[in-house]
Amino acid sequence: MKSYKILPIWRIERLKGGYFVLWIEDTELAAQCRPGQFCELKAPQGIPRLFKPISVFDVIQDRVAFFIKTVGAGTNALSVMREGDLLQVIGPLGTSFPIPNNKSIVLVSGGVGYPPLAFLKKHLPSSNQVRFLHGGACADDVFPCDECFTVDGSAGIKAFVTEGFMRLIETRHVDLVLSCGPVPMLKALSAICKANGIKHFASLEAYMACGVGVCHGCAVGVGSKGDYQRVCVEGPVFDADDLNWELM
Ligand SMILES: Cc1cc2nc3c(=O)[nH]c(=O)nc-3n(C[C@H](O)[C@H](O)[C@H](O)COP(=O)(O)OP(=O)(O)OC[C@H]3O[C@@H](n4cnc5c(N)ncnc54)[C@H](O)[C@@H]3O)c2cc1C
Ligand code: FES
Repeated sequence: MKSYKILPIWRIERLKGGYFVLWIEDTELAAQCRPGQFCELKAPQGIPRLFKPISVFDVIQDRVAFFIKTVGAGTNALSVMREGDLLQVIGPLGTSFPIPNNKSIVLVSGGVGYPPLAFLKKHLPSSNQVRFLHGGACADDVFPCDECFTVDGSAGIKAFVTEGFMRLIETRHVDLVLSCGPVPMLKALSAICKANGIKHFASLEAYMACGVGVCHGCAVGVGSKGDYQRVCVEGPVFDADDLNWELM
């Protein structure tokens, strides 16, 4: 099992709507991170017990960035940290997205599903045709992509991102969908992909406890025989056809 490192925060960039980007510097970590993987982060003071799973958002040279939304106690404790403060980090953890060549690919994210797909987009070879769709509740939840959607219509197109995806596949051949977001969005997307014969890999943001495979608190149903896999070890990226969406 990976042990944790204590690393100083190199930079924090405050964004709209309680979002922030937190950068740390570590040569070994930066060299290992692949799109779709995550790290467990913990502010040494302030959080009662748990590390928080946060996707790798970017790697530039020796620096690794995390794009975080302030939600509850754990992310709030991270949000009040300052440059130079020490952070406990375990990672990188979990599986990564496939990196294909010569495919027509659509990236679909919802809410805090945005960071792993923004990182993935930077890694996809130029032989692919890539379109990045992102959806959020309102203007505060949308970030640079090819087409954005909001539920309240305050930015981009007023629609669910899955509706935007359905419209896209009416006019464009798609080989592969790579996605991350809330389970209802992924479930709807998975049904559309299945009905249209499109290969789909989804990254799940299940609620986690240990984050390193010990507690089985993040287990999700796979296959039709009542089997389970851990999102933190066998995931977070899964072949969507292997997941039992009925049990989610
Ligand atoms: C693999 C993975 C990657 C992630 N990557 C990112 C990322 O890049 N950026 C980011 O901002 N967040 C990311 N998250 C989500 C982030 O870990 C949660 O927002 C965080 O756990 C909330 O913790 P908290 O202590 O702030 O809030 P809590 O106090 O734990 O929770 C606040 C509320 O949100 C609910 N909740 C918390 N987490 C989840 C969840 N995963 N699914 C459904 N409901 C939840 C709780 O039930 C509670 O009602 C990721 C999660 C996973 C599993
Ligand atoms: S969170 Fe403990 S096994 Fe995945």
